Order: sequence, then structure tokens, then C-alpha cells
Amino acid sequence: MKRLFYTLSLALALVSCSTAPKSADSAVDQRVEDLLSKMTLEEKIGQLNQLSSMNNLEDMAKQIREGRVGSILNEVEPGRINALQRIAKDESRLGIPILMSRDVIHGFKTIAPIPLGQAASFDLEAVEAAARIAAIEATNDGIRWTFSPMIDIARDARWGRIAEGYGEDTYLTSLMGAATIRGYQGPDLSDPTSMAACAKHFCGYGASEGGRDYNTANITPRQLLDVYLPPFQKAAEAGAATYMTSFNEIDGVPSTANSYLLKTMLRDAWHSDAMVVTDWASTSEMLAHGNTYDRADVAAKAINAGVDMEMVGETFIQNLPQLLKEGRVKLSTIDNAVRNVLRLKFRLGLFENPYVDENKRVAYAPEFIEKTLKLATESAILLKNADETLPLSSKVKTVALVGPMADAAYEQSGTWTFDGDASHTVTPLAALQAINGIKVLYEPALTHCRDQKAAGIASAVAKAKQADVVICVVGEEAIMSGEAHCLADINLYGKQKDLVEALSKTGKPLVTVIMAGRPLTIAKQVEESDALLYMFHPGTTGGTALVDLLFGKAVPSGKTPVTFPYMVGQVPIYYNHKNSGRPAAGTELLIDQTPVGAGQTSLGCSSYWLDAGFGPLFPFGYGLSYTTFEYSNLKLSKTELAKNETLHVTFDLANTGKYDATEICQLYIRDLVGSVTRPIKELKGFKRVALKAGEKTTVEFDLNMADLAFTTLDMKHEVEPGDFKLWVAANSDDNTNEASFTVK
Ligand code: BGC
Repeated sequence: MKRLFYTLSLALALVSCSTAPKSADSAVDQRVEDLLSKMTLEEKIGQLNQLSSMNNLEDMAKQIREGRVGSILNEVEPGRINALQRIAKDESRLGIPILMSRDVIHGFKTIAPIPLGQAASFDLEAVEAAARIAAIEATNDGIRWTFSPMIDIARDARWGRIAEGYGEDTYLTSLMGAATIRGYQGPDLSDPTSMAACAKHFCGYGASEGGRDYNTANITPRQLLDVYLPPFQKAAEAGAATYMTSFNEIDGVPSTANSYLLKTMLRDAWHSDAMVVTDWASTSEMLAHGNTYDRADVAAKAINAGVDMEMVGETFIQNLPQLLKEGRVKLSTIDNAVRNVLRLKFRLGLFENPYVDENKRVAYAPEFIEKTLKLATESAILLKNADETLPLSSKVKTVALVGPMADAAYEQSGTWTFDGDASHTVTPLAALQAINGIKVLYEPALTHCRDQKAAGIASAVAKAKQADVVICVVGEEAIMSGEAHCLADINLYGKQKDLVEALSKTGKPLVTVIMAGRPLTIAKQVEESDALLYMFHPGTTGGTALVDLLFGKAVPSGKTPVTFPYMVGQVPIYYNHKNSGRPAAGTELLIDQTPVGAGQTSLGCSSYWLDAGFGPLFPFGYGLSYTTFEYSNLKLSKTELAKNETLHVTFDLANTGKYDATEICQLYIRDLVGSVTRPIKELKGFKRVALKAGEKTTVEFDLNMADLAFTTLDMKHEVEPGDFKLWVAANSDDNTNEASFTVK
């Protein structure tokens, strides 16, 4: 293992050659050294300790006075934050401010769509803006450090935390993560509205076996380098101020004791001086993992691996003095960890001003709502629109609004919304009722998404029969996704399936809207509905976004950031898989078509499921519009390139339908032969292109050959010469516009 990681570190050292070391911030470093030189051992170790907020202020105050606290998480009341900072500044020996932290994951007060929804927008500017809003609102209450973005690649919808990340693709996740970091941190960390970001969970947490949270991640060294680590490297380039170790182990090593991740990669290869925090008690949880003997062993393994700050575990504060005496931890190791903590506090300007203005409130500002609405609208994905059911015509006067998510303010905000006030959330019901000239017949039918009582369905059907159109809003309550909320069955829960089926039988046009934290297996509901809009929990402005889309004030543009399976048994399922030696042709017989008594090899022997076939319900990058787009005239600037050259790709995009709209154009490549097998497709670019009805434009992409590098057979990060295919496409399954080029 050690040897392998050594080889990998060499490989990554090569990757990093292009990454310039961070410019030294000498003034800050000088202040750090001055302060460090005055600190006692206890004060140093205190800086490495993060407390969870306690009800009794005095309990925290006592520890702060004694210099035993570096950071507090989950303290959000400005008055209390000021009181604690005053104690730190005036009553502790060295006056070191406290780093106040919170999980601000997709908004603080104004709640943006969950990150998976944000990814569906493919809109980096809008995502950065959402993070900026979150930072302005949270810092206004005294929070200067958030535990976001989560940039774990997730290819298994059973895993509840798929909601918190940007989906299955490394390239998309890398860019989304960097945009989010830029938004939180702003141009200068010392600005009072800047909030330190935390790239988490470092690393591989999204690969939890079986989609069960906290589980072992089985990741090969090459997958780690090519799939799971790049978003974290990109985060380092974006200047992520902190990293969080993940709960999982990889190949027997829990991340909190993984020096390959925390030193070889983060420090040596990426030159990051970010502060590393553990996940919640992921230090002491190493006892359960079984790689440590006792709490002292835990502390030694974590700090020696490269952890700086311990979130609530308290093994550092209890054991580091003794470990130092025994020589199991060096003073220089502790000093380095303290440096990383202090540097961040200086950079945030906390020494100059740790306080918050208790009289200034900026939550839910109109421009925040406007920007959040834009992102929520762009995050919605139109998965079906038979016979142009949407947008609703002006003839629609009576709407039956049905379903447990139609007026569920808290639930539509999704996971991790500790601070948003649900009274500011606009539900579909509220938004519809605000439209003049529309009569709304509302019937939730089920009290919540898991409701097993079918009694309300009859009255929903009765209302549907009186309406011109039925809007049925179903999905998942907030609690059904997020941390620890994994599912082995990803169908609609409760009687929601029966509800959709009963409504479809009324013969009225049925628009199904799904608000959920993960892609659900909805093949049946797609069939039963005339139109289907998917909204990963859309947040504060979700109802307004939905109604704007339904009535054509806005046109859907979102595309799936994850593959949607037909059946849960298909997961993990993702577009950039390997081909295998026996790829399916797509013409294989399914189980119902297979003759009784069929001979053992009569079906052929290819890689597919007898019951689910080969492909997904919806591929990655998929989403419809009210208009139609045509791609044509694909041209490459060259067909033979050197490894350091850039390929210029152009094509024409025409809006051939009736509506002004935006298309998310995607650029994919396939490396046909490598020293190791290559994915069948890889996303290498995307662009949101707005076109008026009937308009046509030329779209351009630049593809650097350097971006075709991968971890080769001998573990080098390199571009290998050879033939490539390239597509400009509406989704990952669209092969119509194809070209070829060769790298010499
Ligand atoms: C989660 C982290 C989170 C932390 C603090 C942990 O359980 O895994 O993502 O930041 O708690 O709330």
C-alpha cells in the first residue's frame, strides 16, 4: 500500500508541476509566528479543538477563557457570538478570536436548490452567486466558516448524500465546487462578508459501498486519481481555505489517518496551505473502524497524518500533551497544525474584528430572491412533454393542484436547511394562487410523501375531473435524503404511485412535478404523465420557479447531473463507464421476450440486465425544452494535434422551435485506445447558449490536449498519443454530431 501510494504521489507530483505554489503571505505568516512564539502548549492544542455549541454560554466561556477552544460550530445567534468573541478577545490570555462555523450548504436564510439541483443548471455564475448570497447572509449573523461545498462524486442514488453534491461527473463537480468556493470566499477572505469554504469530504465518501452512508469506499488507486481527487485539486486551485476529512476508509485507511491524502496530495502535490478539519468525531470513530487502539492512538494517527483541527472528538485536547512527552507526536507537528488555524483566522480578519453588527439584518433581500429564483428556474429539468402539454395554454382556467409536495414549505427546501425560515418559502400552491384568472382546486390527497392512507386519492380525482389540467407534485420529504438518509428502494414512497396512476386515469392532461433529493425510479410515472418536470429540492423560490415554467414565463433548460436508472438494481449507473469486453448492442431480448425453455446461450452473451436492459431511463446531461434545438456543421480546427496544442471546435446551434430558450451544449470525447481502458465518454466542456426562436449561432469550444491526460498504466498523469472521438451533444447519449482527431 505504502509503495503504491508512493508511486501515486510521484504521478500526482507531475500533475502539480503546472500548479504554482501559493504565493507566501509574508505579513500574515509573520503575525502567525509572533503569536505562536507566545503560546503555551495548552493554548496551542486549544486552537486545534472545535466545540459544538452548548446551551449554557458559561460552559463555553470557561473553556474559551482557558484557551481551550479554536472554533465553535453551530452557534448562530449574533448576540451570543459577540459575547463569546468578547470573552476570547478580552478574557483569554492571548485574545485569539474564535472561528464560528456552520453547515451553510445551499443557503443560510434564502435557500437555493440543493447542490444536485444547482448542478442541473450547468450555470457556474448562478451557482457562484448563490454561494455569495449564502455568505452574505451567514456572515451577517457571525458565521465565517461553512462546511461546503461537498464535492464527492456520487454514482449511487441510494446514497442520501447524493443530494448534497453535484452529481456523478468529475468535470462538472470540479467546476461547480470551484464556483461555490469563489462565491463563499469572495475576492478577499478578509472582507467581512467572506466565509471560508470547506472542500469535503476528502475523499471518496460518495463511493460508500451499497449506497449506505459511512460505509467503506472501494476505490482503486487509478479511480481515486482520475475520478475522486480532481474536484479537490480544483478546490485547491480555487483557494479553498479548508478541507474536511471524510468518514470512510479507502483500502483500510480511514481518511482521518490518511497521510497520502492530507500530505502527499494536499500539501506536496497541490501546494495548498488550507486548514484541515476532521468530520464530526471522525477521529474517535477510528476506534470503531478498528485501525486504532485507544483515544491516544487516535489523536496520534490523526495529527501525524496531517489533521489540523478536530471537530468535537476531543482526543487532541485530552492526549496531545502526553503524546508529546512520549515522543509519539512532535512539537513541530502541533506547531504546523496551529499555524494553519491561526493563518486562517488572520486571513479572515478576525483579529481586527471578530464581532457582528447585531442590529443589521440582510436576510431575504429582494435581489437575493431574484437570483435564487433564476437558479431554481434553471435547475428544473423537463423530462417529458408529450404533445406540448407545457407550457399551459391561455385556455387553462381551472387547475387541480394535487400531491403532498404541493404545499410543503419545509420539505421543498430539502436537506441541510437549519436556518431558513419556511414562512419565506413560496410553495407551488402559494405561487399558483397568486396568479390572476386561474381557479385552483387544491387537494394534497396524502399528508406527506410516505403517507400510506389512500383515502384522499378519491377527492383528488374528483377535483381533477373538474379541472382543465392536473398538476401533481410528489417526491421526497427533506428527511428522505441527506446525511444518513439512504434508501434501498428509490421509488416514490407511500401511496404517491397510486395517486399518479389514479390521476392519469382521469384522462385530464397530467403534469407530474417531482421534488426530491435524488433521482428516483420513475419510469411508470413518466409513462402515466403527459409532462414531467423534475426539481431537485428547489428551496425558497421553488413554487415561483415552477409556476413560471408551467405558464411559459420561463422555459426549462436544466439537464440531469446524474443518470436516472429504470430500476434501483442498475446502480451504480453513470454515463462515463467502461465499455467492457462484451458491450450490449441494445437489441438484446428482455426477460418478457425470452421464449420459455430458451437455450443457455440463445440470448447471446452481452453485458445487460434481462429485466432492465442496458441503458438508463434518462442519461446524464438530458433535459427537454419547450423549443427544439438543432446541432449541425461540426468543425475541428485540426485533426492532428500535438500534446500541448488546443483544438478549436465550432458548430451551429439553431433554435428551431417557437420559444426563446437556452440550450446547454455539451462536449464529450472518447479516447479510443489507452494503455489502460478508457471511459466510453467524458464530458470536457459545456455552455449555456440562449437563442431566440428561429435564431441560429455558431458555438465554440476550446479543448486543450493537456485536458485529455489520465493515469496511465505506469501511474503517470499523461496524455497518450492516439485516436479520439468527439461529440457536441444535447446529452451524453446523443451521438449525432461526431468528429475524430488524433494526438501525435
Ligand atoms: C457531516 C459533515 C458536516 C458535519 C458538521 C457531519 O456529520 O458529515 O458534512 O459538515 O457533520 O455538521
